[in-house]
Amino acid sequence: MPESLSAPSPAKLNLTLEVLSRRDDGYHELETVLQTLELAGAVTVTLDSDAPGVAAAGPFAEGVPVDGTNLALRAAAALAARTGRDISRLRIELEKRVPAAGGLGGGASDAATTLRLLQRAWNLPEPVLFAAAESVGSDESFFLAGGTAWATGRGERVRPLPPLPPAAVVLFVPESTLERKTARLFAALDAQPFDPGGVSAMFARRPATPVTGWDVYNAFERVAFDVFPGLGKLFEALEERIGQPIHLAGAGPTLFWIGGEDGAERAVDAGAGLPCTTIRTRTAPSLWR
Ligand code: C5P
Repeated sequence: MPESLSAPSPAKLNLTLEVLSRRDDGYHELETVLQTLELAGAVTVTLDSDAPGVAAAGPFAEGVPVDGTNLALRAAAALAARTGRDISRLRIELEKRVPAAGGLGGGASDAATTLRLLQRAWNLPEPVLFAAAESVGSDESFFLAGGTAWATGRGERVRPLPPLPPAAVVLFVPESTLERKTARLFAALDAQPFDPGGVSAMFARRPATPVTGWDVYNAFERVAFDVFPGLGKLFEALEERIGQPIHLAGAGPTLFWIGGEDGAERAVDAGAGLPCTTIRTRTAPSLWR
């Protein structure tokens, strides 16, 4: 049996997400506070496999690319190129338990976990991991840190924050997402004034009480309900049933409620009969720190 290494790949939420400006390279300057969740997929890498490539299984495997565009494989290739390793016999198995393209960072998390596993196998220092992560996408660097963290730049400059008190989270995942939705949402924001900044900084200084929907801010909520068909109706129905603010997860279309454990049951019940999959989870500390 060839040797394999496995680790979880958690989902994330943006507890704040401010979009400050559009840069000359087309990306946008962000200020965001991110948080990993207990909800997690898993990655297994086998360095010397007779069946190299990517395989995806699990409840949210449908539509996940297993070709050269797969983020975990791209991350492995980026790391191999930087360290002179051979990945021609590398197999990456993804157990997809995080909804794909939902705003929860599932693909970026798979990529970061793959980098952590290859770091273990190849005994690599931190900086080369962050360089590879950054070359693949904007959320990958955060997942190398995990837990609670503050990210700036296009999302790749990550500073760990002290862990927040645990909070319950209920995710409402609509049945469909959109092609290139992150790029489309950023483009929609370009037509409006950008955020002045300061919300994430204030959030980072907040007292150590569990986060609620009243503390959360996401700039994409300005445009998401115009871009995702039916999302506004789902949002209104959920908020009315729960009686507390809910929010968009990252670039959506997943919606979420966050608060104390005693409110989670009511939030779960609110999803009943609506066109979404309801998932109860909670915030989780970093796997790597
Ligand atoms: O970096 P990532 O591949 O996750 O981003 C997907 C798309 O979202 C980018 O191609 C870009 O159009 C947009 N984006 C942006 N500003 C960011 C991050 C992403 O405009 N900070």
